[in-house]
Amino acid sequence: MNRTTLENIQLIDIPKISDPDGRGNLSVIEKDIIPFEIQRVYYLYDVPSNSTRGGHAHIELIQCLIALSGSFDVVLDDGKNKKVVTLNRPDIGLLIPTGIWRELENFSSGGVCLSLVSDVYKEEDYIREYGDFLSFKNA
Ligand code: TYD
Repeated sequence: MNRTTLENIQLIDIPKISDPDGRGNLSVIEKDIIPFEIQRVYYLYDVPSNSTRGGHAHIELIQCLIALSGSFDVVLDDGKNKKVVTLNRPDIGLLIPTGIWRELENFSSGGVCLSLVSDVYKEEDYIREYGDFLSFKNA
């Protein structure tokens, strides 16, 4: 049983240090910023604008997505409702709890999606069929 809803999805402010001499920005993720212990980091890049990534939910894994460069849309679905969050700032993280179907689309040219996750890669934690996801949510 998994009762997470779209309301459990959060945007996290990542501290930004702007250089006083105009040398650009620095953002830093220390352990208190992300509400889980990071076990793995991966990133999506060179994604064609007409491609969709994701297309799955997780049973246990928690994830934080950050648009390190460019922009993309994250379509979020709790089995009852859907919403789209556009990520386009390197100082905002999108926290996706367990049991949320997600699809990433509309990558801009140069768009990079950084993903911080709570576990190592385990295919058995993925729900990759939408019908299985609905069964999981409604069990
Ligand atoms: P996939 O989960 O389909 O990517 P996305 O959901 O972002 O579109 O993963 C693509 C391939 O990469 C698939 O064969 C699994 C593999 N993979 C790993 O080996 N390790 C990882 O940490 C991830 C995220 C994927």
